[in-house]
Amino acid sequence: MTKISLKKISSLKKNNKGIASLTAYDASFAKIIDNCGIDIILVGDSLGEVIQGNKNTHSVTLSEIAYHTKIVSKGIDRAYLISDMPKHTYQKPKQAIQNANLLIKKSGADMVKIECNNKNLNIIKALSEKNIPVCGHIGLTPQFILKKSQFRKFGVKKAEHNMLVEQAMLVEEAGAKILIVECVSEKTGLEISSNLKIPVIGIGSGKFCDGQILVLYDLLGISFNGIPKFFNQGYLKLNKFTDRIKKFIKDSKNT
Ligand code: KIV
Repeated sequence: MTKISLKKISSLKKNNKGIASLTAYDASFAKIIDNCGIDIILVGDSLGEVIQGNKNTHSVTLSEIAYHTKIVSKGIDRAYLISDMPKHTYQKPKQAIQNANLLIKKSGADMVKIECNNKNLNIIKALSEKNIPVCGHIGLTPQFILKKSQFRKFGVKKAEHNMLVEQAMLVEEAGAKILIVECVSEKTGLEISSNLKIPVIGIGSGKFCDGQILVLYDLLGISFNGIPKFFNQGYLKLNKFTDRIKKFIKDSKNT
């Protein structure tokens, strides 16, 4: 089976084919979703919640992500593999480059993901200048969330919508090759996807993004802290895990 390249992911956007992405944290599930035809697998720091049973992602360490990336990569023949950089591991360019290299060169990731704010565009730039492929993440950014009220839909009000569209463009300009938008309004997801050349993958961000991503354990209905509000409960009516995964891939391909 041929491994999916970044060029192929970009062509899925250009040809309006839809991009299906899921998280995975171990070799067995990675193999199942890879065999089902997933395009991108993310070793997300959501592992802090769904694997470790914590209330948020904040205590996940780089060595934990490196470990899970290594074991996930063993289960993959085809999918493109992105690894999350945990909170506090990409504060300075030199630190970010060193840590990203651990995930890419030593653990098997194809790309690293960082949660973006207006202060860390220089990190995307520094990584890109070293030819380290970066996925940006905007909208709801769990690493920056300190209180419950920050779990909400972003971009509903015009000013915030405009700010997110602008931020997405800056992330692309800084060198990111993929962007994840979490919990933004459908209109914001649509405008960002239309304005950017790079693929935009949505989670809880409406059907008009170039692709969709879910936390695998939400799709399987087994997440430790419960399932997010935006999750389509219809998937849980399918009895077999593989049927839920295949239906999600088909739905993402229709976006
Ligand atoms: O950590 C994660 O799983 C993520 C996805 C929700 C996009 O960042």
